[in-house]
Amino acid sequence: MTDPARFRIVENDPAALAEAEGIVAIFVDEEGTLDPLARRVNKLARGAVERLAASEGWSKASEGDVVRLGFPAGMAADAVLVARLSRKPEARAARKAGVAIAREAGGKAATLALGARKGAEEVLMGALLRGYDYTEQKSKSDDTSRGEVTAMVTKPDALEAATADFAAQAAGVFFARDLVNAPANVLTTVTYAERLQALSEHGLEVEVVDEDRLAELGMGAFLAVGQGSETPTRMVVMKWMGGGDEAPLALVGKGVVFDTGGISLKPGSGMEDMTMDMGGSAVVAGVMKTLAMRKARANVVGLVGLVENMPDGRAYRPGDVVTSMKGDTIEVINTDAEGRLVLADVLWYAQETFSPSGVIDLATLTGAAIIGLGHHNAAALSNDDGFCDDVLAAAKAEGEGLWRLPLGREYADQLKSRIADVKNTGGRAAGTITAAEFLHRFVKDDTKWCHLDIAGVASTSFDSPYAPKGASGWGVRALDRLVRDRFEG
Ligand code: BES
Ligand code: MN
Ligand code: ZN
Repeated sequence: MTDPARFRIVENDPAALAEAEGIVAIFVDEEGTLDPLARRVNKLARGAVERLAASEGWSKASEGDVVRLGFPAGMAADAVLVARLSRKPEARAARKAGVAIAREAGGKAATLALGARKGAEEVLMGALLRGYDYTEQKSKSDDTSRGEVTAMVTKPDALEAATADFAAQAAGVFFARDLVNAPANVLTTVTYAERLQALSEHGLEVEVVDEDRLAELGMGAFLAVGQGSETPTRMVVMKWMGGGDEAPLALVGKGVVFDTGGISLKPGSGMEDMTMDMGGSAVVAGVMKTLAMRKARANVVGLVGLVENMPDGRAYRPGDVVTSMKGDTIEVINTDAEGRLVLADVLWYAQETFSPSGVIDLATLTGAAIIGLGHHNAAALSNDDGFCDDVLAAAKAEGEGLWRLPLGREYADQLKSRIADVKNTGGRAAGTITAAEFLHRFVKDDTKWCHLDIAGVASTSFDSPYAPKGASGWGVRALDRLVRDRFEG
């Protein structure tokens, strides 16, 4: 398990800067004005900061950029990081500075000499989120412990209050990233369910549902996907009832621990990326962990369908007709369109069991979401404008890219089957929308629902704004904020 760095908030103490180990970050605005802490560091470093601030390079740096001054004379630190940040920075720029500082610090202890600067909490959050490294599979991981992050500020109490939930939020994001980064021989449906069960230590009520029970419930679509795998299909239900007696919000996640495509086998090249096909479920698990750790005053249930999609003598085939828990029959055209079969049954179960006030599902559902939006925005599709607007606003506030696509009868018509109630693919056109229309069938008319296709954002081959390459944890903060703003407020 990768733990976020510990952080500590202290009052301004210019004298301590000489002795601080690791790195010391100071903040200088576009005009090169030095605040008292920066002045102190400048003095210790014999005027290096002043020279930097007067240089041509500094005038070309953008807001949030960081310049490194290595092995400053007169200081114990390995480096001074000079962050370019205005006196009242935008949240996005402040986080960018924190991210750049953490990247440069590389896990060493860091002192953020923020003083009276606005947006200190954003700098701190950026630094915490970027301070992540997946080392579980390295045989010789050097010291993986992260140095402490110290925020030195004029008003410690105010920053303490603004950051009260940060440890819980970072822990939820890191939990999701660890799950997504884990290979499929390590994170099987069974070990995954165990990791979720362990969340009960934070006060979540966790129930693991096995295949016999899923069969009793009639989840023929979900179970079909796992038929060809040696690792058994599981549904895990996580409950956090921190609110009153109101109906809960339901979060539903696709948890395909590995997606070979099944009998409709995927091409070999790049197939290794399909270890991340449980990304939707990981976001659900991450949010549930955050809600429990910060003792959210809201009712939220998280449901994930854990399954592996393999080709085998027992595997389901193209042409098979399966029956969902709802009762609708589904003609399987392509066994690689498995995520929607998982979600159809878990969505239905969530509504039947909890009568939720709203449902959000998350899934690495379609390659078409990557074609349409690339790796910087997930796709949102919804049957309720107000609900969807709240989700979009929460994502925007957290800097997590999200863009809405339409639904529509014409798209649903692409899924008409000759022999069953519906088929599981709708052709090449509008793949993300037809997938959502498939799910729409399993959403009751009066249920507010928002589907998030995170295929492009769950894991990236480049550094994302807040994460090193690999799993991003996209969505954990947006959904935590949604719960705070819509359900706790
Ligand atoms: N897990 C994939 C979608 C995916 C692709 C996620 C690339 C992340 C990166 C999903 O199960 C899938 O295979 N979808 C098919 C659907 C098609 C057969 C209708 C796709 O998008 O090609
Ligand atoms: Mn697939
Ligand atoms: Zn898949």
